[in-house]
Amino acid sequence: MKNIAIWASGKGSNALKIIEHFNNRTDICFYLLCNKSNALVLEKIKPYSIENLIFDRADLYENNKVLDFLKEKQIGLNVLAGFLWLMPTPIIEAFPKRIVNIHPALLPKFGGKGMYGMKVHEAVRAANEAETGITIHYTDEHYDEGEVIFQAKCEVSPVDTPETIAKKVQVLEHLHFPLVTEQLINKL
Ligand code: GAR
Repeated sequence: MKNIAIWASGKGSNALKIIEHFNNRTDICFYLLCNKSNALVLEKIKPYSIENLIFDRADLYENNKVLDFLKEKQIGLNVLAGFLWLMPTPIIEAFPKRIVNIHPALLPKFGGKGMYGMKVHEAVRAANEAETGITIHYTDEHYDEGEVIFQAKCEVSPVDTPETIAKKVQVLEHLHFPLVTEQLINKL
């Protein structure tokens, strides 16, 4: 069995796409890690009977609740699908090249602390970029850094708004994140 931890703390549209993509794989067991007890993602995964761990800052940074859970479940890959807190060093060290994040821009552009959600697309619009896209990368102790695994681009036209840019980027995320995750899982 390949045990995969999906970390999500918001709407969970990417988490759900990944879970749906692997629905027929009996060799994969997903766990959901979430830092908000009222996150929409927890509602969305209900039909899939996925065990979840809800945790707070202390569980991640001060005690070993999260790390112990990952070890107990023998997690092979951590997939950050809309998880915005920094990964603590002990978790990075316990999972070398086993933590991947998706970011809604072409890193290193438009990344870093505070760059998430619509803020990214507003910054892309304000900078008059001709293109934007997605980055899937291994995670380190810094926001939105770490070796890039995959990028995909889309055009930004002069009439695009942050909202229309967000839609284009989300199409790329939903298409590619499950496929890249599949490649990484198949290597485990
Ligand atoms: C996604 O767009 C993802 O790229 C972004 O959070 C969103 C989560 O959406 N992550 C970051 O900005 C990380 N810095 P979702 O909850 O609908 O999957």
